[in-house]
Amino acid sequence: MAARNTAYLLVGLLALLHTWGVAALVEVKMKDRVEVFRGDTASITCTFTSSEGVAGIMIQWFFVTQTGDKQRVFYQDPTGTVVDKGTPFTGRISVNGTGATGAIVVTISNVQLDDELEFICLVNGLTEGTGEGRTKLKVFVLPDFPTIEGEQKGISLKDGKSKIGTCEVKNGFPWPNITWYRNTAPLRGAPDVLKVVLSTTVESSGLFSVKSELLMKVMKEDKDDLFYCEVNFFVPGGLRMTETPHINIIVYYPATAVSVWVESPKGNIKEGDSIELQCRDNGNNPSSILTISDERGEHTIDSNVLVLDNVTRLNSGVYQCASMDMDTFEEISGNTTVFVNYLEPAVVVPKGSVVVTQGKELKATCNALSSLQTQIVWLKEGKAVSKGNSLILKDATFDSAGEYVCVVNVLEFVGMETSGTLHVEVQGPPEIMKPDDTEVEESFGTTVDLTCNVRGFPTPSVTWTTSDGKILPPASEIASWGEVHSVVSIKVTSDITAFCNASNDFGTDALTYNIAATINTTTPATTSTSISTTTTTTATNTSATVKAETPIPPKKEGSGFIIAVIIVCILLLAILGSVLYFLYKRGKICGRSGKQDLTKDKSSKDNIVVEMKSDNTEEAVLLGVNGEKQPPSHQGGAYLNVQK
Ligand SMILES: *[C@@H]1O[C@H](CO)[C@@H](O)[C@H](O)[C@H]1NC(C)=O
Ligand SMILES: *[C@@H]1O[C@H](CO)[C@@H](O)[C@H](O)[C@H]1NC(C)=O
Ligand SMILES: *[C@@H]1O[C@H](CO)[C@@H](O)[C@H](O)[C@H]1NC(C)=O
Ligand SMILES: *[C@@H]1O[C@H](CO)[C@@H](O)[C@H](O)[C@H]1NC(C)=O
Ligand SMILES: *[C@@H]1O[C@H](CO)[C@@H](O)[C@H](O)[C@H]1NC(C)=O
Ligand SMILES: *[C@@H]1O[C@H](CO)[C@@H](O)[C@H](O)[C@H]1NC(C)=O
Ligand SMILES: *[C@@H]1O[C@H](CO)[C@@H](O)[C@H](O)[C@H]1NC(C)=O
Repeated sequence: MAARNTAYLLVGLLALLHTWGVAALVEVKMKDRVEVFRGDTASITCTFTSSEGVAGIMIQWFFVTQTGDKQRVFYQDPTGTVVDKGTPFTGRISVNGTGATGAIVVTISNVQLDDELEFICLVNGLTEGTGEGRTKLKVFVLPDFPTIEGEQKGISLKDGKSKIGTCEVKNGFPWPNITWYRNTAPLRGAPDVLKVVLSTTVESSGLFSVKSELLMKVMKEDKDDLFYCEVNFFVPGGLRMTETPHINIIVYYPATAVSVWVESPKGNIKEGDSIELQCRDNGNNPSSILTISDERGEHTIDSNVLVLDNVTRLNSGVYQCASMDMDTFEEISGNTTVFVNYLEPAVVVPKGSVVVTQGKELKATCNALSSLQTQIVWLKEGKAVSKGNSLILKDATFDSAGEYVCVVNVLEFVGMETSGTLHVEVQGPPEIMKPDDTEVEESFGTTVDLTCNVRGFPTPSVTWTTSDGKILPPASEIASWGEVHSVVSIKVTSDITAFCNASNDFGTDALTYNIAATINTTTPATTSTSISTTTTTTATNTSATVKAETPIPPKKEGSGFIIAVIIVCILLLAILGSVLYFLYKRGKICGRSGKQDLTKDKSSKDNIVVEMKSDNTEEAVLLGVNGEKQPPSHQGGAYLNVQK
């Protein structure tokens, strides 16, 4: 029973002790850390709970030294506030609040890197015991903008891990991190192809600088890659990131192919052109040398360009461009075929000029050697007379004579053409061109110009004579290429016959002019000086000229035919008349009346009745059907009186 009572007492004491103990503790709450930029003001808050109020407590602030000791910065008790002298915070520390609200805020102005310490807030109650809180002060400094430096030298594929570039970020706090990127992907791992060498420095200011060097084994594909660094660093309340500018690197790689081509002119090349050949290999190799050569040897080229001026067909051929790696002496090459088109001068056969006899045939050819298809056309006086290379003049006439030009042009090239000429002379006897008229009427005393145009080859000689053998000197004579234009002036003193005689080796031709001299009369001028259109060949006189005018009926078309029909009808009627007369005479002898018989014969199929008159003038009348007399107007042109 006693033990049971003792147990109850113990439990009750424990419970009492427990409640008393809890009430006696001072509870202090603080943030784990306070983060500020260097130079800023840090506020560290210490929150506590105490039933005793400010009057019964003492608050002390310490910081933890490098060695782990606690050093007091300031304290507060009910008598007042004291800032300890000789601490790093003396003069920079201030306290806000009295603690009456259960919170006390310590502010440290112009925070320095060394201020990154742990602070302790210690609260002592007179009866309630002690409470403690701790806060770490974190100081931050933004680093300088990061820099990147790329490798300026080209990197060869043969090299091992080569330096790509260096990134540096200075004066940060705490340590900033540098990460390398290629294009958009971070470069990590792969120790056989890449290596990042990091070097860190603590500046005298206490700030941190980081340098990162990237070493990598490059591939041909890396020639276009972009490299850069990303810098990560902490700031109060978070993380921040910056990037360096992007760089690329020069990758040296050997060529696997060479191409050579004609850069200009584009398309076909012709003699006289300047051609530019260019050569390029697909590598990037400083130790490779390009050379261009053709069958005739090597050409000196300026960088990768070869210019050939005024090319001829001899420049045609295969041009080879070689790329030689001077380190390994490996050579690769490519080639291109150049073809220089040409058009030689036109060759005309026969050459120069040719003489063809009138009426004969002339064949000429024109050819120009060309590498391309040509088109040939023969022109005379600018007009095309023949297509193709041959010119055939069948049955040559004086009109065929002249200059023929054959033009040869290349279809593919505008303006690539050549031409040749052929002078054709047609030889033959003189041929005088007939003037409009050779019959001339002129008044006495006037002077008349007679013209004689002659063609013929060799160029004929022209003489003018009169019928009495007198030679007339020409007033003018123009002779050229088988043509003569001769004019004489004759004073009209009487009727004159003038001859224009033309001759050459092949024959002669003559033209006769008849000039009729007239006396001026008072007759109207209508017929006086007009040139006669008659066929008279002898000298005539104005008044003697008779114009054989034939009166023509208005109805021109059918009248000739009608007249012929009528004449035939009349002849038939005459014959019929004679027959009838003969029958009449015979009938008289036989004692019968032919007239009566005839009129009675109504069944006669011939419906034409002819009435004969006894007088000498025979008048045949064409009668209508059944002998009815038709009025003259009725029959129109079919009614005619004929007088014998
Ligand atoms: C002290 O605290 C009061 C109110 O809590 C505030 O208005 C004042 O700005 C503070 N002073 C300092 C120096 O922090
Ligand atoms: C830097 O890298 C280290 C190791 O990976 C990491 O612990 C740290 O948090 C990083 N710092 C920043 C600012 O990213
Ligand atoms: C081009 O070459 C031809 C023949 O080789 C020559 O007659 C001509 O004068 C040259 N022209 C130029 C512009 O050099
Ligand atoms: C030119 O190049 C072709 C392949 O591109 C090759 O077959 C030919 O033999 C080459 N010719 C010369 C003359 O080098
Ligand atoms: C000129 O021609 C005419 C006509 O043919 C002829 O009668 C005359 O004799 C010729 N004269 C000369 C000089 O040949
Ligand atoms: C004849 O008449 C024409 C005009 O009708 C005139 O021009 C000419 O001079 C005359 N001749 C003579 C000789 O009278
Ligand atoms: C022209 O003819 C007329 C008569 O018909 C004649 O009188 C005259 O003399 C003739 N004139 C000449 C120049 O022959």
